[in-house]
Amino acid sequence: MSKTPREGQDKVSGPEHDPRLQVHIAGVTLSNPVMPASGTFEFGHVHNKLMNPARLGALVNKTIFLEERPGNPPPRIIETPCGMLNAIGIPSKGTDAFIAEILPQLKSFGIPLIISIAGGTIGEFCEVARRIEATGQADLLELNLSCPNLSQGIEWSQDEPALHAVVTAVKSAVALPIVAKLSPSVRDIGRMATVAENAGADALSLINSYKGMVIDIERRRPFLGNLTGGMSGPAIHPLAVHAVYSVYAASSLPIIGMGGISTWREAIEMMMAGATAVAVGMYNFINPRAMTDIV
Ligand code: SIN
Repeated sequence: MSKTPREGQDKVSGPEHDPRLQVHIAGVTLSNPVMPASGTFEFGHVHNKLMNPARLGALVNKTIFLEERPGNPPPRIIETPCGMLNAIGIPSKGTDAFIAEILPQLKSFGIPLIISIAGGTIGEFCEVARRIEATGQADLLELNLSCPNLSQGIEWSQDEPALHAVVTAVKSAVALPIVAKLSPSVRDIGRMATVAENAGADALSLINSYKGMVIDIERRRPFLGNLTGGMSGPAIHPLAVHAVYSVYAASSLPIIGMGGISTWREAIEMMMAGATAVAVGMYNFINPRAMTDIV
């Protein structure tokens, strides 16, 4: 795949293209194993000016639904010791607006694109998948089956029949390789990985955030507008490593490992646990160059 540096940004001939860093996810070659977690890298924002996305192994968008949605009421984010609780609620302009406005910008960096999609129903998942596939611009489809901030979000990856049904349906709707994004908030994540694998998933990404709550004790009410949120950041890193280790033991699929990665040390640790590639999430908000530093 061609790699065209954007005007004014660094050249892309550095160590990120050392062939020893190459990894393969479901038939897609990434020049290095580092990418953003969905929702932590977007266009027109500070990251675009402070680092060169073309240096990454892949790009991942904020999850899109079929139709426009407002997301959750504020406050949506609160910092916690060694982490962050968010209840953004996946605001989205909808799939067609994403295809018209965001996708061409993502594509301009010339690296593989993992398009994160979700749906309130199986039919919606399939329709978004079909529209994305029709653009010919996506390399992998990530099914967000694990958002803890929606009324029908995390449940997809907590219920075996629901997980099997949605992955099977999207797999038969499109030819693009499918990455199933799993929740850690289950009894046995290795078991859920095998359900996704048996349904036809080509790769797995994990972990999404843990459901949590912060209470404002002065106001005597939960801090977030949504009451609960998803916990991410360094505080959950050992939990994420264990989840990846468990899934690696249970499934033969390649794993994109994430959860509290902030430096190359945690990235290496995640790969030693079994991840083929790694995604940086919360730490992008602290150090916009975290991903390229890790590469
Ligand atoms: C959100 O937008 O609420 C977070 C997305 C996710 O956890 O999947």
